[in-house]
Amino acid sequence: MTNQGAPGLRAHVTGWGRYVPEQVITNADLEKMVDTNDEWIVTRTGIRERRVAAANETTASMAAVAGLRAIRTAGLDPDEIDLILLATLTPDYYMPSTAALVKEAIGNTRAAAMDVAAACSGFVYAFSTAQAYVTSGLAKHVLVIGAELLTRFLDYSDRGTCILFGDGAGAVVVSGSAEPGGALGIELTTESQGAYMIWLPAGGAKSPPSRETVARGEHYIRMEGRETYRFATRTLASTALASIRRAGLEPDDVKLFIPHQANIRIIEAVAKGLGLSMDRMFVNLDRYGNTSAASVPIALAEAVNSGRVEVGDRICIVAFGAGFTSGAATIEWTADPTRGIDADTLVRPGDVHVRLPVDWDSVDPIPPALAELMARPGELPVPLDDVVPGEPAPAPVS
Ligand code: UT7
Repeated sequence: MTNQGAPGLRAHVTGWGRYVPEQVITNADLEKMVDTNDEWIVTRTGIRERRVAAANETTASMAAVAGLRAIRTAGLDPDEIDLILLATLTPDYYMPSTAALVKEAIGNTRAAAMDVAAACSGFVYAFSTAQAYVTSGLAKHVLVIGAELLTRFLDYSDRGTCILFGDGAGAVVVSGSAEPGGALGIELTTESQGAYMIWLPAGGAKSPPSRETVARGEHYIRMEGRETYRFATRTLASTALASIRRAGLEPDDVKLFIPHQANIRIIEAVAKGLGLSMDRMFVNLDRYGNTSAASVPIALAEAVNSGRVEVGDRICIVAFGAGFTSGAATIEWTADPTRGIDADTLVRPGDVHVRLPVDWDSVDPIPPALAELMARPGELPVPLDDVVPGEPAPAPVS
């Protein structure tokens, strides 16, 4: 897929932003829950800590903060966004779409909004959809978000998965213009034979939620780690290469790769596969773990804000995930990289308001296994009333 044939319009990244929850869970914290240790996690994955959403946060609330930050960075008003694409495998609900909730939360009245399901590759898939919309002229500005709240879908007795994942959101604004640069080449793949290598067995039409599915723990993410690792190391470099060649470039022409932040060893294999050194790979998985569809846009925002990307640089975003899916986009950067630096202070979580259900009893969303870790001494519990309105105010904490 390429934008070469479009009538003069190109897809530029004009805004970027990210949001991560405040609460940190370290490897030492996980040692208290499962038979693991910091040394194993660091040497096998590179992860040192991950963020965990508070009880009053949801995928929509995190997505809205990241999205509004990206809109501010682009210098736009929320109502100038024509389309909102939200990549996630952890939507707030099966319906409505989380994108619909985000639309209202950021103060947009006119955009079409939908979720994109391609697991950890979701952000790249959504980015390519945005590229198609803006280069065809169907939309001028598209907000593309990757947001995940994975810590509520983990089996905290499975050390093979619960150590890997974390929560967060990242976003970009993709805008159409006739200026040169922007998205140059895109490659997307789906290999369905890997469909059950990472999956969430119950909750869908094949196995609707029931007492039995919950008792069997089928509402948690399951993964064949080694098979997934093999797919990732086989596919990431080839997908990136296809995208780079569609852009008429070679790997050495790309200043910085923003790979999906799943495992440092996988990123090292990508660098090796492309014949490049690790300083061309942006890495922040040590601080956030694997945030699935949020990982690439969080990393992109941090790479740009930390001065790793300049106007005229070619960068490549590349991801893999359940499906098996993979995707890569090679982009010539055209926006002033300093524009996003103030976004975190300009937009605070209190600036977004996600519509809440009315007259609906809330259930504490924090998994029991995490609740103890999250109740740090001295911290006030977040009242559930923050999640669902219409309930009596909690008694003051004495
Ligand atoms: O976004 C896509 C999401 N998925 C991924 O990116 C996953 C890709 N896969 C991986 O990153 C790696 O396969 C893992 C990090 C999940 C596992 O690393 P590995 O080097 O493939 O380990 P392994 O599964 O081959 O297990 C090696 C040993 C086993 O023990 P034995 O059988 O050799 O005695 C495991 O039981 O390590 C054991 N093990 C652990 N030990 C301590 C597995 N998990 C842990 C753990 N702590 N958390």
